[in-house]
Amino acid sequence: NKANAFEILIGTIDQSTTATKFVVFDVRGQLIDKEIIPHDQITLHPGWLEHNAEQILLNTHLAIKQTITRLEEQGYKRENIKTIGITNQRETVVAWNKYTGKPYHNAIVWSDTRTHEICKRWLAKHENNSNIYSKITGLPINTYFSAFKIRWLIENVPEIQKELNENVIFGTMDSWVIWNLTNKLHLTDVTNASRTFLLNINTLQYEEKILNEFGIPSKCLPKVLSSAEDYGVIENGLLKGISIGACLGDQQAASLGHGLFQVGDSKNTYGTGCFLLVNIGNTPVYKEGGLLTTVLYKLGQDKPTYYAFEGSIEVGGSSINWARDNLGLFKTYDELQKLVESIDDSGDLCFVPAFSGLFSPYWREDAAGCILGLSLHTKREHILRALLEGIAYRTKDVIETVESCTGNKIESLKVDGGLTNSAFLMRFQADILQRKVLQTKVAESTCLGVAFAAGLTAQIYKDIEDIKKCIQIDRQIEPHIEFQEKSKQLYKKWQLAVEKSLKWKD
Ligand code: G3P
Repeated sequence: NKANAFEILIGTIDQSTTATKFVVFDVRGQLIDKEIIPHDQITLHPGWLEHNAEQILLNTHLAIKQTITRLEEQGYKRENIKTIGITNQRETVVAWNKYTGKPYHNAIVWSDTRTHEICKRWLAKHENNSNIYSKITGLPINTYFSAFKIRWLIENVPEIQKELNENVIFGTMDSWVIWNLTNKLHLTDVTNASRTFLLNINTLQYEEKILNEFGIPSKCLPKVLSSAEDYGVIENGLLKGISIGACLGDQQAASLGHGLFQVGDSKNTYGTGCFLLVNIGNTPVYKEGGLLTTVLYKLGQDKPTYYAFEGSIEVGGSSINWARDNLGLFKTYDELQKLVESIDDSGDLCFVPAFSGLFSPYWREDAAGCILGLSLHTKREHILRALLEGIAYRTKDVIETVESCTGNKIESLKVDGGLTNSAFLMRFQADILQRKVLQTKVAESTCLGVAFAAGLTAQIYKDIEDIKKCIQIDRQIEPHIEFQEKSKQLYKKWQLAVEKSLKWKD
C-alpha cells in the first residue's frame, strides 16, 4: 500500500439535518471513505425542531475519527488529507457564548415553524407584503430563514436578551463547526449568509436597515467570506494542523458537485427536503412567482459571484422517515421499494406532504398535509406510493415555476441525495416530468462540491475545467413517452389536492 502514502486526499464535513458526515475523496473525485453519524431530532411541540449543537460537535469528531481509523487500515495516513471543506444544513441557527463556547439554547432548525407569530408581526409591519425585502435578500418573509429564528431567541431566551451586547454570538451550523474547530474564528460564507434574511445579496454585506429592524447587533454575526478561501487552521482533534479551504451551504455545494457552471444548469437534491437550484449567472435577478434568489457560489475573494433561483421543497426523506417511524408502515428501504412496486398505481390517492406547510412556489406555512381519495381499498402500499409520488409532484411544481420565471425549458434533471436510491421515485419523476433524470456517479454530490471548492483553494485544482473532468453521469432514466397523457391527468389531480391543502386552515 506504499503508493497511497503520497496520495492527495480532500476531507469534507457535511453537517446536515439528520446526520453529520465525514467524507474523503481523492483528487479525481472518487469517494475513498465516509462515516455518517445521526443526531437527535428534538421535537418539543408540533412544528418545532431542535438540534443539540454540542452533540453535533461530538459527532463531527467521531465521524472524523472513525473514517481516519479506517483510512489508516487501508494504508493511508492522516497527512494524506491536504485540505478540508465544510458544508451544512442551511438557515439552522445556534446562539453561543463567545468566551465559554456554551450554546444558550438548542439549535433551531430550518424547518421549525415556531416563528410563525413573529413572521405575522413582520408582515403586519410591511402591509402584508411578504416580498418587502426580496430585492435585497432574495427571500420572502417566512419561518424558514435564520433572522426570524434569531429574533425568537432574543425574545424568548432571557440570558440571550441580557448578554446580547456582551457575550452572545450567532451563526448557522457552518459557523458553529468552524468556530469550534479553529481558534474561535467566527466566519461564514456567502451562500450560507444569503439564507439568513440579513445579507444584501447585491453587495454581499449585511443590510444595516434589516439588522436594526430585527434588533441584531452586527458584532454578533459571523464575518462573511467567499466560498473558497482560507478559513483558518484546525486547532483540535485528529485534523489538527490542516486548513479549512472552503465552506458552502449544502445545496450550493451539491450544485458544484453536479457542475452547475453554465447559466441554465440545474439540479435537484432529494435529502431531508428537496432543493432545486438553477444557475442564473452573475446578476441577482429577483422574480415574483415563488422562487428564492440565492448566492450559488463565489469561488475565491476576487472571483465573480454566481446566483441561483431556488425552488425549496419542504419535505423529502423526512416524510419517508415519518411513514416508517411514526406510522410503522415499513422497516427497511428495500421493503419500501418492494411495497411500492407491488401495486400498479396509488389507487387514486393523492398525498400532499405539507408537514411544514408548503415552500416554493406557494410559501404557505398554513398549508395542511393531507391524503385525499382514501377508500376501503386503500392499503399501506398505496399510501407509501402516493407519498413518493407527492415528492415527485412537488418537484414538478418547482420546475414549472423555474421555467416560467426563466423562460427556458429544463431539458433534463440532474439528481442526487438519499432518495435517488428509490428506483420507483426516479422512474415516476422522469415520467411525470416527461424528461430525462440524470444521476451522477458519486452519490455524495454535496461533499464532492465542497471538496472541489477546498481543492481550488489548496491549488489541487487549477480551475473549473480541472473540476469538470471529475464529474461523471452514472445513469440516465428515460421517461416513458406513453405516460405523457396520463402524466397530465395525474398532475391536474395533484393541483386540485394542493388547492384543498391550502384551504384547510382558512
Ligand atoms: O435549507 C435546508 C437545507 O440546507 C437542508 O438540507 O440535506 O440537510 O436536508 P438537508
